[in-house]
Amino acid sequence: MRVLIIGAGSMGRGIARRLASGNNTITLFDVDPAKSEAVASDLGGSRPGGARVAIAETPSEAVPENDITILASWYAANLDVARKLGQELDGRIVVDISNPLNETYDGLVTPPGTSAAETIRSVLPQGAKLVKAFNTTFAATLLTGHVGGQPLDVFIAGDDEHARQSVIELVRSGGLNPVDVGELKRARELEALGFLGITLQGRLGTNFMSGWKLMIPAHA
Ligand SMILES: NC(=O)c1ccc[n+]([C@@H]2O[C@H](COP(=O)([O-])OP(=O)(O)OC[C@H]3O[C@@H](n4cnc5c(N)ncnc54)[C@H](OP(=O)(O)O)[C@@H]3O)[C@@H](O)[C@H]2O)c1
Repeated sequence: MRVLIIGAGSMGRGIARRLASGNNTITLFDVDPAKSEAVASDLGGSRPGGARVAIAETPSEAVPENDITILASWYAANLDVARKLGQELDGRIVVDISNPLNETYDGLVTPPGTSAAETIRSVLPQGAKLVKAFNTTFAATLLTGHVGGQPLDVFIAGDDEHARQSVIELVRSGGLNPVDVGELKRARELEALGFLGITLQGRLGTNFMSGWKLMIPAHA
């Protein structure tokens, strides 16, 4: 698949690494072009033969050329990017990965009964297909794709069936384990889970190297 990643920070790097291992074509955009360059050069050494990595000068030029656009920055920036791209995202699959933390990192800025993903959805054109994914996987764990020998679970929520399935396929291509949690409103629980994972790091001393795993009976 052809994937545009907007935001080449820790998560952009981790997601790009996994997707490159699945031979997807990746385009990076960051407000700081040096960060896109750094991720691209890092991938240059690790990507298998078929994967290609490009750098976009603007998100607008790259959106139409890609199957999926991943908003890989902070919630406020993702919301801003969504607003600015506006109609350019009509009909497009858009992935939000954010955990909408408050300034003191001890709560979420989104009121109960909503989510960052649904708020971003509300500023997009009707035809845009928003999917929540990757918000419960820490950046450093994405570099290898597993924790304790187990592939990372990536929880995926979205209202559009085709969009959700496309993201499931993308996640699987990167050696990760997709978990389809259904409608976009499940992002409320996913963002709470992402936040809980953050609060546990100091308590468990796991230094953002833990992951959430859904255990499934063998017959399911
Ligand atoms: N880190 C994790 O382990 C983790 C895990 C799960 C979910 N998340 C979520 O993932 C998102 C990214 O986190 P991160 O740790 O990767 O943050 P990060 O390292 O700060 O990366 C975000 C990148 O996006 C850039 N950026 C800001 N505004 C932009 C815009 N309008 N267009 C393009 N790029 C823009 C930032 O540039 P500047 O630095 O110049 O602003 C930065 O390079 C957050 O929403 C976070 O809640 C993070």
